[in-house]
Amino acid sequence: MKKLEDYVLSIPDFPEPGVIFRDVTSILQDADGLKLAIDELQNLLEGVDFDVIVGTESRGFIFGVPIAYNLHKPFVPIRKKGKLPRETISRTYNLEYGTATIEMHKDDIKPGQRVVLVDDLIATGGTIEACAKMVEQQGAKVEKIIFLMELAGLKGRDKLKGYDVASVIRYE
Ligand code: PRP
Ligand code: HPA
Repeated sequence: MKKLEDYVLSIPDFPEPGVIFRDVTSILQDADGLKLAIDELQNLLEGVDFDVIVGTESRGFIFGVPIAYNLHKPFVPIRKKGKLPRETISRTYNLEYGTATIEMHKDDIKPGQRVVLVDDLIATGGTIEACAKMVEQQGAKVEKIIFLMELAGLKGRDKLKGYDVASVIRYE
């Protein structure tokens, strides 16, 4: 039986020389890989009590929504700047390659809600840290943060001290 790692293609020198890009899309192309990915990610939430899943555009949507559906929880999207139609809060942060601004509808998260953050991958941790801060800005609590893949060498977890963080696959 194939493990989740077996479905991940590693692309050298993308998007720039020296970087090995772990391609999550290769998991999705195989029905067994897709199922394994959702199941294993969802297993990280066993025993966690929470109200809502928050996922960030775009790959956080791929994994966040099926888990929300399976567990009968709502899903709140965090989107890249300029996409959400109602009043938003926003954060600008550093990426591994460049900077980005993300936004969330101001009224999508309520004070006191217990939130799970889902993304496909943690690299430098900038994206998920920005997501966590936005959730907290709304008076909600980040109960757990889960990733399919963790690029441990980039030390993204250093930005997430104090949070309960778990990943399915860890690359050194
Ligand atoms: C990728 C990935 C994470 C983030 C990780 O998204 O899906 O959200 O980068 O990087 P970090 O830990 O260094 O912040 P990207 O911004 O490339 O957008 P995409 O999902 O739309 O491809
Ligand atoms: N794979 C996928 N997404 C990424 C990576 C990677 O290696 N690094 C930053 N975002």
